[in-house]
Amino acid sequence: MAHILIVYSTTDGHTRRICERLKQVVEERNHRVELVAIDDASQVRLESFDKIVLGASIRYGKHRKEVYDFVRAARQVLESRPNAFFSVNVVARKPEKNRPETNPYLRKFLKQIAWRPRELAVFAGKIDYQLYDFWDRQIIRFIMWMTKGPTDPRAVAEFTDWKQVEAFGRRVCEM
Ligand SMILES: Cc1cc2nc3c(=O)[nH]c(=O)nc-3n(C[C@H](O)[C@H](O)[C@H](O)COP(=O)(O)O)c2cc1C
Repeated sequence: MAHILIVYSTTDGHTRRICERLKQVVEERNHRVELVAIDDASQVRLESFDKIVLGASIRYGKHRKEVYDFVRAARQVLESRPNAFFSVNVVARKPEKNRPETNPYLRKFLKQIAWRPRELAVFAGKIDYQLYDFWDRQIIRFIMWMTKGPTDPRAVAEFTDWKQVEAFGRRVCEM
């Protein structure tokens, strides 16, 4: 039985929901899981976990600064045990951009950091226009219009393939 830490960076909560699904899958296989928001990760003793997973969403082309800070500070511990990273973004709803090898944000992120995660994944996220402030809503609607996504300002569109999330959970158990 492994003790697994899942650290997440979220703005609107969807990455946390993905982590909760991962936790379920991993716990069904009798491992212990702790979910920690990236803002609280500095209070956690990383060395006490057997495996570490980091998940982060994209906003305006980037993961949050805290993600880079965490990776820099935790790199040695991460690399000393099985580790994984996943990114959440809506570009990944496109079949040609939904794999670690083809998702532009994940490719760019890996070029920017020294850590080489053992397992990688990318999941399509969620759009919920009512959650956003006026300008975010207009900008995301414009991007969606350009990329043939939903533009109705009341739309809630979840693109996440939960089977893919579950499969990643199984990979985390095996790594
Ligand atoms: C203000 C804003 C900016 C976003 N920018 C991007 C982006 O540049 N590229 C992308 O693929 N998705 C983008 N997204 C989509 C988010 O990655 C998606 O909504 C994700 O599910 C958010 O996860 P979270 O709730 O964990 O933060 C953006 C969403 C918002 C609200």
